[in-house]
Amino acid sequence: MMLLPGLISLAIPALSAAELSLVSFDKKFDSLIASKKPELVGEGYSWTEGPLWVDSLKGVLFTDVEEAVVRLYQEGDVTEFLLESGGVALGDGGRKEVGANGLALHPSKEDSHLYLAQHGLRQVARLDISKVSEDGTVPASAFQAIATEFNGTSLNSPNDLAFTCDGDLLFTDPPYGLTPKGGEDKDELSDLGFFGVYHVAAKALKDPKSLPASPTLLYQHISRPNGIGVSPDGKWLYVGESGNDMRWLAFEIKSTKPFTVGEPMLLVDTEERKTATETEDGGSVDGLDIASDGTIFASGPSGVYVIAPPKGYPKAVPSSDEREVTAAGEPINKTLGSKVLGKIEIGVPVSNAHIGADGYLYMTGTESLWRVKLSSSVKPASCSKALR
Ligand SMILES: *[C@@H]1O[C@H](CO)[C@@H](O)[C@H](O)[C@H]1NC(C)=O
Ligand SMILES: *[C@@H]1O[C@H](CO)[C@@H](O)[C@H](O)[C@H]1NC(C)=O
Repeated sequence: MMLLPGLISLAIPALSAAELSLVSFDKKFDSLIASKKPELVGEGYSWTEGPLWVDSLKGVLFTDVEEAVVRLYQEGDVTEFLLESGGVALGDGGRKEVGANGLALHPSKEDSHLYLAQHGLRQVARLDISKVSEDGTVPASAFQAIATEFNGTSLNSPNDLAFTCDGDLLFTDPPYGLTPKGGEDKDELSDLGFFGVYHVAAKALKDPKSLPASPTLLYQHISRPNGIGVSPDGKWLYVGESGNDMRWLAFEIKSTKPFTVGEPMLLVDTEERKTATETEDGGSVDGLDIASDGTIFASGPSGVYVIAPPKGYPKAVPSSDEREVTAAGEPINKTLGSKVLGKIEIGVPVSNAHIGADGYLYMTGTESLWRVKLSSSVKPASCSKALR
């Protein structure tokens, strides 16, 4: 379907072009972005998420979560790519968002599936995109369940996904996909009673007979785990925490076989984060992507925050900062002290960001898709060397 932005945008609040800008906090930021300001490239959707460059499509897939459609941005046009993306019919169970949310591709060339965090079926699934027909439909059997439960209980609604360079899957499981139409994402909607960060080993993904896999719980004391990613050197796991405790958490990856992480730490010091993210435009910390040099592009209130790769080792949180606590009430003791270099200002809540192979950073959120040209030095992280 071709979009008619002029007609559709009448139904949504007008986005003033003046709100799209770049806000530099550090001169390094100016060397990372090539455009003068971000551009709006698609609008008129429900709530957009999960942008993902796909080489075979020469374009960017993104999810329209309330409409349960995966859309494709290609050569300036947006078309419908996949319908009923959450594996269930629109409005199933009276829920507001039953579509797919985060999308990801496996780093190994041998696995060309599209991985989807499906709110509808409350699972992580994968799909052979060659099975998607021209009209956007697929047989229900085309979705292969990867993770559906933890310890015998249904997951909440997987939200975002990432892979390590070993090909292991990491995902977050907040309750947003359980929210009824017109309702709120209450804790009580969860069968598990917590909102976890999970791991599935590459070995399980290679053996379809072992699927769905039993995910390992990496961390559970987090109010709303959301965006997720691993630093290119494999040292740090980052998790964007949305909801009441809005912050970026970092976990040291202590071993990969088995995959274990240390205690939650702050990626950015409290005061610095609060100052950088202060806005009246709403939204929370959400999805993120990481460039090959470790720079983090983290979506959040009113834009995308560009965060420098952590330097060295964690230190004690500054005593001048108010002490933050985990969802279990434990004080967070350490910080990586990463600097927020600047902000790609969008003016409305932004849900996710992704570095495309075409050199643009794609950004979703609210009813739209935006992009900004990155400098040629900013490349998508690649696992070519590490992956066996
Ligand atoms: C797994 O489920 C059992 C029984 O429902 C429960 O006692 C146990 O605490 C659960 N384990 C975890 C790690 O949540
Ligand atoms: C912070 O340190 C205290 C005191 O040693 C400890 O009880 C707590 O578990 C630590 N916090 C985290 C998140 O590990």
